[in-house]
Amino acid sequence: MKLPPDARFSTICIHAGQVPDPGTGAIITPIFQTSTYVQEELGKHKGYEYARTQNPTRSALEANIAAIGKGAAAYAFASGMAAIDAITTLLEAGDHVVVTDNTYGGTFRLFDKVLRKYKLEFTYVDTSRPELIEQALRPSTKMLFVETPTNPVLRLTDIAATAAIARRHGARLVVDNTFASPALQRPIELGADIVTHSTTKYLNGHSDSVGGVVIVTRDEDVEWMKFIQNSAGAILSPFDSWLVLRGTKTLTVRMAQHNTNGMALAEFLAAHPKVKQVIYPGLASHPQHALARKQMRGFGGMLSFDVGSFEAARDVCNRVKLMSLAESLGGVETLICHPASMTHASVPPERRQAIGLTDSMVRISAGIEDPADLIDDLKQALA
Ligand SMILES: Cc1ncc(COP(=O)(O)O)c(C=O)c1O
Repeated sequence: MKLPPDARFSTICIHAGQVPDPGTGAIITPIFQTSTYVQEELGKHKGYEYARTQNPTRSALEANIAAIGKGAAAYAFASGMAAIDAITTLLEAGDHVVVTDNTYGGTFRLFDKVLRKYKLEFTYVDTSRPELIEQALRPSTKMLFVETPTNPVLRLTDIAATAAIARRHGARLVVDNTFASPALQRPIELGADIVTHSTTKYLNGHSDSVGGVVIVTRDEDVEWMKFIQNSAGAILSPFDSWLVLRGTKTLTVRMAQHNTNGMALAEFLAAHPKVKQVIYPGLASHPQHALARKQMRGFGGMLSFDVGSFEAARDVCNRVKLMSLAESLGGVETLICHPASMTHASVPPERRQAIGLTDSMVRISAGIEDPADLIDDLKQALA
């Protein structure tokens, strides 16, 4: 197999970083479940010395994701949070970061409760408004950390406009692309310097692995990420690397069905008398629908809706039968959750209020089941 240089996205997903196993011809990269590698003689080895530093299954995944995300290199970590933590090691004490105000709760917790202890400074702004990013910049601003669409209020940030601000200011633009996946949004093509994903979500896609990746573009970041991955050691295991590698092969077809199901549920909910508001970038009512059309290749499987009260939200979550009440997202099965008490419980109530995350909000991660079955389930839960 030789991947043509002009191969299209879905072909890249299936083949990039993959070569048949030289020993056996196995088409699938094996799980190299080993801690070390035997050396032929002192100073003579096959490029592998110790499994924290190098592992062929992880390398295959990293090459695959670098190609999918259009970066120079990618590094796989033990979780999405470990990946984000590794990115912040590019900073030094006294550096300042501008962050999307409704970033994932775990990211906020890492920045606010851990990294501030090391004298890093963070300002949270609504990055959907470029003028607010400009206003938050300081001479010490070294990084813009943007999540788009956000979790769970699905606000969008204009990646190209934010990249222009970062360039003018000499700061790096980092995009958490977990919600969109590379099938729907490729921030590096829009000017981002670094992209991160929780592979736990769409990249793996089967709810059976926790992991994260960092995709980099600059030579110095290629070197640093490799160094920090080995130095801090929060690597993705061989088995998890293999699972994610299997996941990326079907990313394109899965995302197409997530798009279809997300739109079907959003339209059903928008027409339901008990639903006060539906937030989905694919609906014309979404305040940034035009931006979604411009920078995304589909609107994804994530949607949130408001049912007017906490009690009503609780009832919907408790009454669904086919959907599962659970945290996380991006798997083939549909999940439902109550962000205020589940995924975003670590975000203080006043911050939740400021970003529009109400107690009456329910979030759905639409899977790839038949959308009619999902609609039937919501119909009975809302009845
Ligand atoms: C947008 C986003 N980024 C990062 C993470 C963290 O990923 P992980 O749970 O794999 O550590 C999550 C987890 O939900 C997320 O939703």
